[in-house]
Amino acid sequence: MNIYKVLSDDHEKVRMLLTELVGLNDKDTERRSELIAEIRDELIPHVRAEEAVFYNSLRMIDASKSMAMHGYAEHLEAEGMFRALQAMDKLDTSWKSTAQKLKQSIEHHIREEENEMFNAAKQLFTEEEAVAMAETFEAMKPKIKEQGLMKTTLEMVANLMPPRFSEKFRSFDLTQH
Ligand SMILES: [Fe+2]
Ligand SMILES: [Fe+2]
Repeated sequence: MNIYKVLSDDHEKVRMLLTELVGLNDKDTERRSELIAEIRDELIPHVRAEEAVFYNSLRMIDASKSMAMHGYAEHLEAEGMFRALQAMDKLDTSWKSTAQKLKQSIEHHIREEENEMFNAAKQLFTEEEAVAMAETFEAMKPKIKEQGLMKTTLEMVANLMPPRFSEKFRSFDLTQH
C-alpha cells in the first residue's frame, strides 16, 4: 500500500457519496443529512491528513511547491462550499445546486491530484517513502476525526505556514483557552 493507492481509495468513496447526494429527491431529507455527515467524515480527515503528509512533502521540494499550494487553495474552496451545503441542508433550501458545484469542484481537484500531482510525486519520492506516507496518512485520519472543527481549522493554518513557523504555531494550543 502506497500513498497513491490510499488517497485514490478515499477519492473513490467521496465521489460515490457525492453522486448519491446529487441524485437525491428533494423530499429525501433524512438521507441527505446522513450523506452530508458521511461526506464530512470522509472529506475533512482526508484533506487534513493529505495536507500534512503529502502536500507538505511536496512543498519541501521546489519543483512541486506551486502544485501543493494550488491544492491547498482548492481544499479551502471545497471546504467553504461544504460548509455552505451544511447550512443549506439545515434551512432546506437550494442545497442541490451547491451539492452539484461541490461535486464538480471536488472531481476537478481529484483529477488534478491523481494526474499532475501523483506523476510529479512519483518522480520525487521513492517507493519506500510512498509506503511510509501511506502509513502516516492512515494513522492520522482517525485522530483528525476525533478533533473538533476548531482544531482541524487551526491545523490547516499550521499546514499552510512555512515549515519553520508551523511547529511553533502547533505548540500553541488555542483550543485550550
Ligand atoms: Fe485527495
Ligand atoms: Fe486534495
